[in-house]
Amino acid sequence: MKTLALFNLKGGVGKTVSAVNLAALAAASGFKTLLWDLDPQGAAAWYLGVDMDETGGMKRLARGRTPIGELIRHTGVARLDLLAGGLSSLHLEAAQADHGALLARLSAPLAEDYHLLIYDCPAGLQAVNEAALAHADVIAMPMIPTTLSVHAYEVLVRYLAKRRLTGLRLYPFLTQVDRRRRLHRELVAALPAQIRTLLHTAIPYASAVEQMGPRRLPLPLFAPRTPPALAYAALWQALAGLLRLHGDG
Ligand SMILES: Nc1ncnc2c1ncn2[C@@H]1O[C@H](COP(=O)(O)OP(=O)(O)O)[C@@H](O)[C@H]1O
Ligand SMILES: [Mg+2]
Repeated sequence: MKTLALFNLKGGVGKTVSAVNLAALAAASGFKTLLWDLDPQGAAAWYLGVDMDETGGMKRLARGRTPIGELIRHTGVARLDLLAGGLSSLHLEAAQADHGALLARLSAPLAEDYHLLIYDCPAGLQAVNEAALAHADVIAMPMIPTTLSVHAYEVLVRYLAKRRLTGLRLYPFLTQVDRRRRLHRELVAALPAQIRTLLHTAIPYASAVEQMGPRRLPLPLFAPRTPPALAYAALWQALAGLLRLHGDG
């Protein structure tokens, strides 16, 4: 089983819509996929049309009292399942374990059933995110094109090194790109020279992405021919290569 994390320190950049769309594209390619919504706000569950009940399942999971399989929910998308409920830092601390090792241990039984595990991380650098980053094979970081983006990226890399989170495979990609704006066009041209691991695919700013909210569906399922859906398909191809996920499941 391969592990992909969608991460950024900031909220509102597109971590959740990207996690949901990439999960749907992985599933459509034949890979059995589990999306783990680590954000207690439960937006990934919302986008997949799953209504969550808060029954304290994650707390029991962290304490080793509930098998992970019991918390998994099917979605309307073939081969795509969801684990949600927000594994908060509190739960991790309650489990009193090395965070990275804990997530690896909790998810170990999933390897029998899934080719790919995707973490949708909350914003910030709390224990649950450090755990997800330590466990992920590949980290994809959605980034809005602003002049501060490179600076924020460098601050993050230094912070991760200080926390001994080194050797991470961190791949930023641009999102919410509006080519009518000159600054966006300039940054799309300039950033590849400044961020060595920046992925080539940029996701355009598009109202079709916002439609995921009211429709409660991944974008490739209701508007597969739109520019943002085609961009997500290209992004998935790049990430599948980095994860060495080849062929049909
Ligand atoms: N490419 C895009 N075009 C237009 N709106 C977008 C795009 N990507 C994300 N959004 C919108 O931005 C908001 C935040 O996205 P979300 O994925 O929830 O961010 P995060 O998980 O990083 O907090 C949502 O309302 C979403 O519809
Ligand atoms: Mg989110």
